[in-house]
Amino acid sequence: MTHLKKEEEKMRDQVSLKSLTASDMALSIEFSTGLESRFHWLWLRENCHCAECHHPQTWERIVDTFKIDPKIKAKSYELTSEGTILSLTWPDGHKTEIKAGWLIDHAYDGHRVSNGLPEIKYWSTENLGERPSVEAADVLDSEEGLKEFITQLRVYGFSIVKNLAPEMGKVEELAKRVGYLRDTHFGIDFTVESKPDPNNVAYTSVELKAHTDLPNLESPPGIQFLHCLQFEATGGESILVDGFAVADQLRKENPKAYDDLTRIPVNYRFVDKEWDLRWNSPAIRLDYNGEMEEIRYHNALTATREAGFDDMTAIYEGLRAYTEVLRRPEFELKFKLEPGEVMVFHNRRVLHGRGEFDPNSGPRMLRGCYVDCDQAWSKLRVLQGMNHL
Ligand code: OGA
Ligand code: ZN
Ligand code: ZN
Repeated sequence: MTHLKKEEEKMRDQVSLKSLTASDMALSIEFSTGLESRFHWLWLRENCHCAECHHPQTWERIVDTFKIDPKIKAKSYELTSEGTILSLTWPDGHKTEIKAGWLIDHAYDGHRVSNGLPEIKYWSTENLGERPSVEAADVLDSEEGLKEFITQLRVYGFSIVKNLAPEMGKVEELAKRVGYLRDTHFGIDFTVESKPDPNNVAYTSVELKAHTDLPNLESPPGIQFLHCLQFEATGGESILVDGFAVADQLRKENPKAYDDLTRIPVNYRFVDKEWDLRWNSPAIRLDYNGEMEEIRYHNALTATREAGFDDMTAIYEGLRAYTEVLRRPEFELKFKLEPGEVMVFHNRRVLHGRGEFDPNSGPRMLRGCYVDCDQAWSKLRVLQGMNHL
């Protein structure tokens, strides 16, 4: 995966510009790859990377976009350095040079808005093969290992980290390789075991159906770590389900249910003696490209529902249909987490759960913490050398 990325970058360096065609609003560029793409003049002017337009140290934008004439058009434009540079001169004499490779990377005409991350792959137990996994030592001690780990989290939405000593404090060390720990009302880190005075069903021995954690927060934690320290109890098998794959299947079988779930908010709430944390959000949230960005699904944390009368019918039907697909055996990846293994997953995509266990048959103890996705994706981009203009 990472190897492929490097090849792709090399190809970017070889891209050149073949021809330019100007209109009043945009410059149309034909690249050596055959791609043809339009760029607004205003966009080209705003993306001048000279020291007057972008700060050379912070790379922040200095040029005031809103002082640029919205009808601006370059006085002259040409290809230089054997077509690898687009050179523009603006009506006030300001000059801009932009590399062909940068332009093709940022071409937006008819393209998806990009976040610079590898493509995700939807999975079911039928196409997944081996569970994606990494060795703890590789993640802790090498950049390659860390890159592979975060790439798996992005592509599959989970990774099993193996051979992390089953001791307190280790999962935090692992998670800090990815980014800052995310604090919540369960604490910066937490122990999942059957407890005498639970404020959460996870802290009992009952079955936990597949869910996403903390949908009742404005921003539910992105990456969740659960490190198995002890497991002698019978039962308690783990489940992971690709919530995007499930939603995609639902979209094909029942487009109305899918649309309703992207539109009607679910009312989520956590309440105990100290907290009353509520947030409303659709169970399937889409991004600007119309692609899935987030799943929020946790029936136990669903508050008294509120919606228009017709939407009340629709949200019950939508969630029932999603749940039916979610619980099909082909979507449920089941396995027993072993002491020393860490189950790490994208909590806003991959749902997790566990079977009931018998607390009298032996201990079961997991240690958990969270890191947000922005931290993880940032680390991946930096490891790939993408952190520049
Ligand atoms: C949790 C949870 C699963 C487990 O703590 O959020 O879902 O395997 N735990 O105990
Ligand atoms: Zn400039
Ligand atoms: Zn959970």
